[in-house]
Amino acid sequence: MNYTKALDNKIFEIISKASQELNLESYVIGGFVRDFLLQRDFKKDIDIVAVGSGIDLALKVSELLPHKPKVQVFKNYGTAMLRYKEIDIEFVGARKESYTQDSRNPVVENGTLEDDQNRRDFTINALAFSLNPNNYGQLIDPFNGLTDLENKLIKTPLNPDITYSDDPLRMMRAIRFATQLNFTIEEKSLQAIADNKDRIKIISGERIVDELNKILETPKPSIGFLHLYKTGLLDIILPELTALNNVEEIEGHTHKNNFYHTLEVVDNICPNTDDVWLRWAALLHDIGKAPTKRFNKKQGWTFHGHEFLGGKMVKKIFERLHMPLNQKMKFVQKMVMLSSRPIVLSEDIVTDSAVRRLVFDAGEDVDNLMTLCEADITTKNPTKFKKYHNNFDIVRRKIIEVEERDHVRQFQPPISGEEIMVLFNLQPSREIGVLKEAVKEAILEGEIPNEYQAAYNFVLAKAEKMGLKRVIE
Ligand code: CTP
Repeated sequence: MNYTKALDNKIFEIISKASQELNLESYVIGGFVRDFLLQRDFKKDIDIVAVGSGIDLALKVSELLPHKPKVQVFKNYGTAMLRYKEIDIEFVGARKESYTQDSRNPVVENGTLEDDQNRRDFTINALAFSLNPNNYGQLIDPFNGLTDLENKLIKTPLNPDITYSDDPLRMMRAIRFATQLNFTIEEKSLQAIADNKDRIKIISGERIVDELNKILETPKPSIGFLHLYKTGLLDIILPELTALNNVEEIEGHTHKNNFYHTLEVVDNICPNTDDVWLRWAALLHDIGKAPTKRFNKKQGWTFHGHEFLGGKMVKKIFERLHMPLNQKMKFVQKMVMLSSRPIVLSEDIVTDSAVRRLVFDAGEDVDNLMTLCEADITTKNPTKFKKYHNNFDIVRRKIIEVEERDHVRQFQPPISGEEIMVLFNLQPSREIGVLKEAVKEAILEGEIPNEYQAAYNFVLAKAEKMGLKRVIE
């Protein structure tokens, strides 16, 4: 079969022409071919393999293009890249490679197209379209990648032990592709991942997190996390999560398996948010439960303070995996720390002041917190399930009501510290803090509205009780 229609972008003609001028063969390979055959949304980059120098080919292509785009050359890797109409085009010379034990950097030799396909990660990523005049558009598929695409199978061209040990990041990639495409990983491959799992330690946190993010961005991340768990990779990457995978029984009391619960929460949240950080919060929301778990005769199993400890653990995980330690981390931390608040509200009759406090503490993130906590409802008891969701609707309505009246989402004290200082002729002192805190508490409790005059009167009364003398009328 001929796939000329996949090559309707003008750039392919130009690459073909450039290859002929240099007297070398070239092919489109990898994700572009795979995604075309899967009729999947086109990704933004194109990988070209040249049987010869990829760098020379890139330079020649640039010469033939009207705007002569800049070519970025990575001499050490023998690759080059240029941008054409928002698309990154990467050129590489066909290679034969072998890797050393302790790094991902291969020893490279020139090779044939088949050598190059052989050293790629999966048969579905080793498919190539020819750009050569004698067979332009022909699919070159020496490892039956097309059959594997049809059978939805992740399989390595070589013995998987070699493919994964050569580049351990591929273990994560196998699992990520299986999750994104809903493919099965060949049994031999899963075994090889389990056998080589410790090699993941030579991969940087950033690259691991790239793959975790891609798994989290799918509609059903649990597929990936179960593979990570079963192959033993998760225990190396996120042991805080695997620590949740147990159920203990004492005196007939058990607790739920918080690992499987967590995966359910992550899947539940996906239809309601595309924000990968909120998905991270779902993944980590219960990690404090393993270290805080206790049993006592009166209450049974408890996890006191797990939210607070969980929040602290978030920072350690982000540091360990070299994730950003900025607002994103703070957001995940905040979600974890507040993750039990709405559910407590939904179990009971909600008071306005409890809702006001929730909005005050969560601020702008209150809607995200509600989304997280609704996803957290995994009870299999239909009566409870319905009750919690109904109560959440009530909480959501109250959030709107309370916010309309009291504006505590971005709380600004209605009376300033400076004004209090002037009123009572005070220097900066503890009393000012006490008065301001009392105003805030009175607003959150609903004793006074969040307005200037009410706050002013409240301060006067409170100050009098504290024995402060007003100096201006
Ligand atoms: N590749 C590989 N081993 C890796 C990374 C990449 O063999 N560890 C090869 C695969 O043939 C892959 C190609 O390089 O198809 C391009 O890699 P990349 O752009 O990372 O992945 P894509 O397959 O293009 O897909 P995606 O963009 O979804 O990651």
